[in-house]
Parts: sequence; structure tokens; C-alpha cells
Amino acid sequence: MKIVVLNGSPQKNGITKQITDYLLKNINAEITTHYAYEVNVKACIACHYCFKHPNECVIKDDFQQIMTDFAQADVVVLASPLHFSSFTGQLLSVISRMQYLFALKYEHKQEIPFKNKKGVTIITGGNDYKSMFDAIKPVDSIIYNHINAKKRQRLLIKATDQYSVPELIEQYQAEIIDIISFIKE
Ligand SMILES: Cc1cc2nc3c(=O)[nH]c(=O)nc-3n(C[C@H](O)[C@H](O)[C@H](O)COP(=O)(O)O)c2cc1C
Repeated sequence: MKIVVLNGSPQKNGITKQITDYLLKNINAEITTHYAYEVNVKACIACHYCFKHPNECVIKDDFQQIMTDFAQADVVVLASPLHFSSFTGQLLSVISRMQYLFALKYEHKQEIPFKNKKGVTIITGGNDYKSMFDAIKPVDSIIYNHINAKKRQRLLIKATDQYSVPELIEQYQAEIIDIISFIKE
């Protein structure tokens, strides 16, 4: 099984990474992680090159490797802290480049050449209120539509400002076990 993680945290060993590592540690898989704040990927510049050139982006940088990995993955994990109620800026910059897949499907009317896969969203947020993850939901849905991830699950962890990582892992144990089974099934 191939798992590809796109980690959106500016803190390479932050809470999001520690929880993601805990969740994936007992899964027998080849795991590749791309760190949104380390890769060299510019945001989409809306030049519409991809509307004239199917399956291609005019900007050549680390994005092409991320898409090659996403295409071949059985599971894509989007792991990010909540920043201003959304994914982090740099993760959204990477994601914006997926516009070439939108063009491929709707302008060029071609199938997206990505194997069918699962999508797992892991978000950590410092705050603690009911609707704090609402803005994430339409965003990850669009992303998973673009990359052919039909089966999806989310692990949404609140109150990271109040609790330590071991305490959070204990509080969210049932949800973590559910996601591990979802990945393995
Ligand atoms: C710029 C910035 C914006 C943030 N915005 C939110 C927010 O809107 N809601 C929230 O609950 N937490 C917010 N936080 C807190 C982080 O989501 C939280 O500390 C997270 O667990 C950190 O994960 P990390 O250690 O992987 O970076 C923000 C933190 C930063 C630095």
C-alpha cells in the first residue's frame, strides 16, 4: 500500500505531524511525505495555460513530483493545522496548482489519470468550539474530487492549545482507531 502525506504545518515536528505519525505508525505501507513549507511550489497564477495544454501546468517545480505521487497513491493524507479556520496558506498554494486537473476534466473532457484512492484529512486546531472545522469540509471535498479519492474520512482534533499530544491521542483514540481501520480495509 502506498500512502502519500501532504503536511501543511510550518512546524515540521508540530502537533499535526506527531498525531499523523502516531496514526500511521502501525500501518504496513510505503509512506512518502511532502511538507508544504519545504517544497518549492508556487501558487497557481491563473494563466490558463492548462486550458490550452491538457494535463500540463506551465510552472515546472516540485509540484509535478507531488502529483506523480498522488496519482499512484492508495491513500492521500492531507494533514494541516487550522490557520484562520482553513488549511494553511502554503498547503492551499500547493492545492491551487491542481487547477490543471479541473481543466483536464471540464475543458478537455478527459478522465483524471489518477488511480481510485482514499482521502484522509487530519486537522488540528487550537480552539474548541463546535463549528470550527466547517470551512475545511468544502475544501477537502474539492481536493478529493480532483484526485479521484472517492472514499474519505476526517480526523478533526480540537483544543490543541489546552492539551498535550499524548492527552489528545488518548481523547481521540476511538476516532484514530476508526481511521486506521478505514485505511487498512
Ligand atoms: C497563523 C495561525 C493561525 C491559526 N488559526 C487558528 C484558527 O483559526 N483556529 C484554531 O482553532 N486554531 C488556530 N491556530 C492554532 C493552530 O491550529 C494549532 O496550534 C495547531 O494545532 C498547530 O499545529 P502544528 O503544531 O502542526 O503547527 C492558528 C495558529 C497560527 C500560527
